[in-house]
Amino acid sequence: CGIVAYVGHREASPIIIKGLKRLEYRGYDSAGIALMNGDLNVYKKKGKVADLEAYLADFDTHGNIGMGHTRWATHGEPNDVNAHPHYSTSRNIAIIHNGIIENYASLKTLLLEKGHTFQSETDSEVFINLIEDIRTNNNCTLPEAVRLAMHEVVGAYAIVVLSKDSPNQLIAARKGSPLVVGIGEGEYFLASDATPIIEYTNEVVYLNDYELAIINNGELDIRTKEDVKQTPYVQRLEMELESIEKGGYEHFMLKEIFEQPRSILDSMRGRMIAESNHLMMSGIREFENKFVNAERIIIVACGTSWHAGLVAEYLIEDLARIPVEVEYASEFRYRNPIITEKDIVIAISQSGETADTLAAIELAKSKGATIFGICNVVGSSIARATDAGAYTHAGPEIGVASTKAFTAQVTVLTLIAMIIGSKRGTLETTKLHELMVELETIPSKVERALQLNDQIVEISEKYKDAPNCIYLGRGYNFPVALEGALKLKEISYIHAEGYPAAEMKHGPIALIDEHMPVIVIATKDSSYEKIVSNVQEVKARKGKVIAIVTEGDTTIPAMADHVIEIPETSEHLTPLLSVIPLQLLSYHIAVMRGCNVDQPRNLAKSVTVE
Ligand code: G6P
Repeated sequence: CGIVAYVGHREASPIIIKGLKRLEYRGYDSAGIALMNGDLNVYKKKGKVADLEAYLADFDTHGNIGMGHTRWATHGEPNDVNAHPHYSTSRNIAIIHNGIIENYASLKTLLLEKGHTFQSETDSEVFINLIEDIRTNNNCTLPEAVRLAMHEVVGAYAIVVLSKDSPNQLIAARKGSPLVVGIGEGEYFLASDATPIIEYTNEVVYLNDYELAIINNGELDIRTKEDVKQTPYVQRLEMELESIEKGGYEHFMLKEIFEQPRSILDSMRGRMIAESNHLMMSGIREFENKFVNAERIIIVACGTSWHAGLVAEYLIEDLARIPVEVEYASEFRYRNPIITEKDIVIAISQSGETADTLAAIELAKSKGATIFGICNVVGSSIARATDAGAYTHAGPEIGVASTKAFTAQVTVLTLIAMIIGSKRGTLETTKLHELMVELETIPSKVERALQLNDQIVEISEKYKDAPNCIYLGRGYNFPVALEGALKLKEISYIHAEGYPAAEMKHGPIALIDEHMPVIVIATKDSSYEKIVSNVQEVKARKGKVIAIVTEGDTTIPAMADHVIEIPETSEHLTPLLSVIPLQLLSYHIAVMRGCNVDQPRNLAKSVTVE
């Protein structure tokens, strides 16, 4: 979910609506706003922020203080009632909430006994009634009641509370879900990330867990839940406004796909110069010995980031000869995993906020492992929870389906594998140098792969109505097959499965007939000959083969129905190129099917609930 709030000298509602649109990537099944205009008024609607905006046109929305929310449903289906903000029983105070209150059921029972009433099925409405209850019982101020409520609730939250009795006051608190305070001249902003804030101010404070921010009559007061006053650590944002706008592209996803030559370069910048054999990553330097002597590397991540982790398994095991395990963060954290002080845990996350990944980090930390983070969002919770790390520097990724963040993650992981391999002596100098030279050519080769766009539009036209699709790859291209299938199902709602090509014969081959499109990533690498046989197996069952091959290949084109040629590169770097046509294919098919590419149904970009 996304949160925005404003207090100051401007009209609050347009700032909040615009901010919510920027945060829609965090959830978009319903939206709402609370404004102080005479009374504490709440307006909410199922649907997108644009639906809320249209609904607001019928009301007087003037006012200089307010808060808004865009929701990704956890408790209760998406509808007008379950949308935020939520009033307390007296309707004197209201809340917006991102996160999950785990003990909401027992709190609700207690509050019901005390006469509180509930309109919605949400845990958030329980939270605001708890605050009201504490305030009445203790006869205390609202900030004090919020602070005390923080001791009662279990779970994750970022909240903002607005009260009818204090028309110049916003109260915010966080535990586990991000919250940024923007400081302008005589005005304050609150948001889940900095994007709603940057056009007004670049001075921000990131709240820490168990802190609350009280903005009252132009003053910002930050306290811990133990009521210890904190000195705000004001940071300057470097984000540019253009980076979060579409810049002429029809969708953010397409813009982000086409940004990859640049974002891959940015992820290497300052870290590698082949000519002078410069290869350095400041995050690793401090922990070099740990990396070199690690008995095992465990990678934890979710979604696309997990796929980047799988590529890293191939890279690190091959180049640095350290055993690697790649884990879904959500499984790892609940499995009582074996972790020792000699393990290094690499957590990969674009947003740096994924709840499961964050929890996996905390678990590994408690067992003494060294935690290394690879995040895209600067200052994010995961970036701050790790011992060391490297940013991917891909720039803001707004499209829900991850594209440029994936290639930036793979680039950073490649650099890491090269660094550890060279320090451990498992990657010899000439080979290392060759890889560095080749890696430097990748941005221009990605540029060439992007020129396949028109050809991919034609192929998309042919397969846009397919109900199913299979993606096959081997070796470094196996994770790419998974990623290609994920991209297609996320945004076009076509059922797609990624499989290791050889494993196809143990199941998915049963699905193949003349209607089944099979996308085979068959570049010239060590498993090329093997995948040629797999293509034949598909053709023998009349499947339609769309093959991603290396430029100049003649064997597979003689068998496949469609051939997409990508530039030749080292096997280790292939995923950075072979994923590009798959991103474009899923994009075009989704557009042709009339799907909302940037905001696919049921998904959210940043999943801050487990
Ligand atoms: C969500 C997004 C995916 C993303 C995954 C992990 O499911 O829709 O695109 O890969 O979360 O997110 P993270 O921010 O941790 O990389």
